[in-house]
Amino acid sequence: MATVRNYRDLDIGLQGGCITDRGSLWKINPSIIARSPTPDPCEQLLLIPHMRNREPEHKVRAERAPAESHGLVTIAQAIKAGEEALSNHDQEYPRLDAEYLLAHCLGCSRTQLYTRYSEVIPNSTLITYELALARRGRGEPIQYITEVREFWGLDFRVTPAVLIPRPETELIVENALKIFGEPNAVASSRIVDLGSGSGCMAVALAIELTDARVIAVDLSLDALRIGCENAERHGVRDRIDFVQSDGLTGLNSSRSTVDLIVCNPPYISQAEFNDLPYEVRQFEPRCALTDEGDGLGFYRKFIPESAARVKPGGHLILELSTGQSDRVISLIEKSDWDVTPPVKDLQGHDRCLVLRRRGLGEMI
Ligand SMILES: C[S@@+](CC[C@H](N)C(=O)[O-])C[C@H]1O[C@@H](n2cnc3c(N)ncnc32)[C@H](O)[C@@H]1O
Repeated sequence: MATVRNYRDLDIGLQGGCITDRGSLWKINPSIIARSPTPDPCEQLLLIPHMRNREPEHKVRAERAPAESHGLVTIAQAIKAGEEALSNHDQEYPRLDAEYLLAHCLGCSRTQLYTRYSEVIPNSTLITYELALARRGRGEPIQYITEVREFWGLDFRVTPAVLIPRPETELIVENALKIFGEPNAVASSRIVDLGSGSGCMAVALAIELTDARVIAVDLSLDALRIGCENAERHGVRDRIDFVQSDGLTGLNSSRSTVDLIVCNPPYISQAEFNDLPYEVRQFEPRCALTDEGDGLGFYRKFIPESAARVKPGGHLILELSTGQSDRVISLIEKSDWDVTPPVKDLQGHDRCLVLRRRGLGEMI
């Protein structure tokens, strides 16, 4: 198998965004997938046997795949090879990852692979698969490779510009919907998603609350672009405004008061940041994870800013990191918010805080 420093060295071409080759394929050698400091995922591609003939100076390390006597690789073989390759690189679920990546490359679901085990994979798809395996082997989250993450039963496009939405964040959506299900709830509500990232909460709420108008706020223009794309994809772009702003300071006064603000702020402290798993620390946007301080910086900023924007009787729903609820609640004491006991996630951790802004007669 040849060690290829760059895929321009290979006899392959890019056709319509798809990498193609003109050689038969070889069993994937797990050693090709190294966690390398290089950002170039195309380095160390080692599948193409004809390179051995064309480029004799390259080291040859490939072995033929068992069922490849005709130069063909089946879905079952590709999964096995991918699993072997990833298991050599500390991936927790190598088989699952290999299946997700292959399904993505073939444009089918993971379960559809099971009914197509003996199907031969086109060479161009195998190369795309190998690139995906190489990225995964270096620790890149699978969602950035496939560019998809499910949230609230919907598919969202995710890129390294946005945090990969977490299932716990669905608790915020759930609790927001409870508020709008209350007897005196406003039908045509105004909602802000503060730090909207992929737009997962803004889009989910706009879909569920068909009369609502949502403002999605983020400091990152790249994140807003992805959020906007997701709103288009789910047909709610006309009811979501995307605004670049540092907190709520950039919202003009015509957007004066709203019924609800939802917010999943960057709440990892600088100290905790270094203990995050490699794939989070290395690949997800730092500005979406940490306040570069004690982890409470955005609560200190966003809670008072929200008080100035939420109508009396309106709500602010915040996501919490594990072990943070007491410290966040202490920031709310002697404020204009009433706080209910934190909502727990499936692991039993306090995960979300629902605050209600006191009415005028209730102010302390
Ligand atoms: C933890 S992520 C949440 C993303 C998304 N809401 C979710 O739950 O998946 C925090 C988001 O806040 C944004 N952000 C960071 N600092 C901000 C600021 N000063 N003003 C507005 N947004 C900010 C980041 O760009 C990031 O998209």
